[in-house]
Amino acid sequence: MAAASTDSKTTFSLDSYHVSEELGFILPEPLEELPPYYQPWMDIALQVPELVHSQELRSLINKMPLLSSQFLQKHQELRLAHLALSVMTMGYVWQEGENDTVEMLPHTLAVPYWEVSQRLGLPPILTHADAVLANWKKKDPEGPFDMENLELLVNLPGGDCARGFFMVTLLVELAAVPALRRIPIVINGVRCGDTDSVAKALEDISQSIQDMTEALKLMHAYVEPSVFYGIMRIYLSGWKDNSCMPKGLVYEGVQTEPMEYSGGSAAQSSLLHCFDELLGVRHEKKSGAFLTRMRDYMPPAHKQMIQDISLQPSLRIFVQQQASERLSQAFQQCVTRLLALRSYHINIVSRFITVPAARARQLRNQSQDSEGEMISRAPTALEERGTGGSGIMTFLKTVRDQTRDTFLT
Ligand code: HEM
Repeated sequence: MAAASTDSKTTFSLDSYHVSEELGFILPEPLEELPPYYQPWMDIALQVPELVHSQELRSLINKMPLLSSQFLQKHQELRLAHLALSVMTMGYVWQEGENDTVEMLPHTLAVPYWEVSQRLGLPPILTHADAVLANWKKKDPEGPFDMENLELLVNLPGGDCARGFFMVTLLVELAAVPALRRIPIVINGVRCGDTDSVAKALEDISQSIQDMTEALKLMHAYVEPSVFYGIMRIYLSGWKDNSCMPKGLVYEGVQTEPMEYSGGSAAQSSLLHCFDELLGVRHEKKSGAFLTRMRDYMPPAHKQMIQDISLQPSLRIFVQQQASERLSQAFQQCVTRLLALRSYHINIVSRFITVPAARARQLRNQSQDSEGEMISRAPTALEERGTGGSGIMTFLKTVRDQTRDTFLT
């Protein structure tokens, strides 16, 4: 666990939270392979989209040998194992869509998955930390960290759109790295009353948040709403607050009672949680509870960083007290850009969920073209809900409005 730097004598630094100066929350140098003993896992994990398509995934997993997790040692090995077991689990549960789900994950998958999850402090379900942060490699190791030179390690159904969805999200994480690097400068500057360095750092943070919005716009170029909604989305869904798995899922060999976990969502990205705590965005009870719960789906060191930012002396009060024009403007600019990012995100959600959901309802009983058929086969349980299980638009608009309330008056 990371050392908490809430003590005013300790300098706040990123590396005590396993956050990299170059890549932020992105896992540096993810492994592509596990030790040979784990080949039976990787053989299946690397074929999940094809095996789901041929409806063979469940039977192959049912026949899989029980492997011990004890030969996994390094953090990177555990992260790849968690990613591989997660995509196998999502494929296993959702292979037949929402009408033929399973009540139990077989022990050959559930037991090692549980053990690996416990060691990482992650839940036994696909998280943002798996599908995005630990799921990349550079085609040319010396080449740039960009769309052309990146590929996924492990895929979910959805072809190029699945790749686009995870990669664009990864590029949003990357765009935020300059902002993350400035967080310690802001915190340490507030502690010692250095108005100029705090103002400069906030100016850089607002630029970085704007770059995140620009990166998010790439979603339109790389992801088809009908493929996202009709094919991919179910594989990100969880077994909590999901009416097609009302009881949750039994992890055989772990516990006889079913367990409930939320599906993967970028609400599990630590970025906006950090900015909210830094700027003093206060969330309303219900949306705040959902966001707080999402922190349990993050690597523990990242969750700790958010927690420690929240315990620092208030930046907002510092800005008010200093009465510096430049500082106040820089703070307001950060809130403006965060608001713009959240507004743009609402736009994306409307295009990728609300519009296809309305079309699905309309098409369900009509004769269908191929796009219509894809959309109308989408799970109805998720029409009004996010994969994380939230009631989408009310939640997102409340969170955006709370951001607006952070402006200095
Ligand atoms: C097609 C693309 C996307 C869709 C359809 C989408 C959808 C959603 C939905 C439905 C939620 C509500 C929570 C839940 O139940 O899961 C949510 C929350 C959230 N999403 Fe996305 N999302 C997309 C891309 C992204 C990307 C690339 C990011 C950036 C890292 C992001 C960041 C967030 C954040 C931070 C929240 C929590 C609410 C907030 O803090 O404003 N999303 N998203």
